[in-house]
Amino acid sequence: MLVSAKEMLTKAKAGKYAVGQFNINNLEWTKAILQTAQELNSPVILGVSEGAGKYMCGYKTIVGMVNGMLEELKITVPVALHLDHGSYDACYKCIEAGFSSIMFDGSHYPIEENVAKTTELIKVCAEKGMSLEAEVGSIGGEEDGVIGMGECADPNECKMIADLGVTMLAAGIGNIHGKYPANWAGLSFETLDAIQQQTGDMPLVLHGGTGIPADMIKKAISLGVAKINVNTECQLAFAAATRTYIEEGKDLVGKGFDPRKVLAPGVEAIKATVKEKMELFGSVNKA
Ligand code: 13P
Repeated sequence: MLVSAKEMLTKAKAGKYAVGQFNINNLEWTKAILQTAQELNSPVILGVSEGAGKYMCGYKTIVGMVNGMLEELKITVPVALHLDHGSYDACYKCIEAGFSSIMFDGSHYPIEENVAKTTELIKVCAEKGMSLEAEVGSIGGEEDGVIGMGECADPNECKMIADLGVTMLAAGIGNIHGKYPANWAGLSFETLDAIQQQTGDMPLVLHGGTGIPADMIKKAISLGVAKINVNTECQLAFAAATRTYIEEGKDLVGKGFDPRKVLAPGVEAIKATVKEKMELFGSVNKA
C-alpha cells in the first residue's frame, strides 16, 4: 500500500539521513527503483513530473501500475507516490487518482497567492492522509520547460510556508535541476542553516540531487535535509548503458532485439545508481 511521506521523512530528519525521491518514466524505471529499495530495506519516494505523467498515460495509469507492482513484487518497504513540481490543477488530479503525496510548486506565484493555494491544498491532503511539499525560492535549471536561476530562498518566507503545516519544504539553496555547470558556486550552507533555524523540525527537501558532490550531500543532511530528489542521474546512467548495448551490436545477435533484452542493461544501470544514492543518503535499512 502506498503511504504518505510524512512518517518516513520525520524519521529521516530525526535520524539524520535522507530519503531519496527518484523520478519515474515507465515500467522499467519504476520496477528498478522499487526492487532496489526492497533489496536495501530503504523507504523510497517515486517522483512523477507532469510531463512524465502525460507520457505514462495519466496519473490513474501510474497509480494502477505502482499499486500492481507493490503487490506483485511483494514490496514491504514504505513507498510514497509523489507528484513532482505540481501545478494547482495537477495537484487535484493526483489527489483524485490516488497518489499518496504531492508537491505544489507555487514558487512562481506572489507569496500571498502561494500561501493561499498552499493552505487550501494542505487541508485537502490532511483529509486524505496525504503529504504535501511546498517550495520557496525557485530551483534553477530546466524542468518541463520551466527555467529557474538557482536562487536562494528567503528564510523568513520559508518559515511562513512551513508554519502553514506543510509536510516538507523545498527551498532553493543554489541547487539546480540537471547537470551542474563547471562554474557552479556550490550549495549555500549559510542559507540552509538559516532556513533550518527558522523552520525547526520541518524536513527540508533538496532538489537537483544529480551531480552534487558526496561531501555537500552529507553536509546538507547534517543541516536538516531529509529528502533528496534525483532524476537526471538515472536518465544518464540508463542512456549510457543502452548506448553501449547498441554500439556493441548486441541487438543484432540472436534475440538481442527483444525489448526485454535491449532495456536490461539500462535497468541494471538505474538500480546501481539508486543503490549508490541510498547508501550515500543513509536510508539503507531504515524501512
Ligand atoms: P535532477 O534531475 O537534477 O536530479 O533533479 C531532480 C529533481 O529535483 C526533481 O524534482
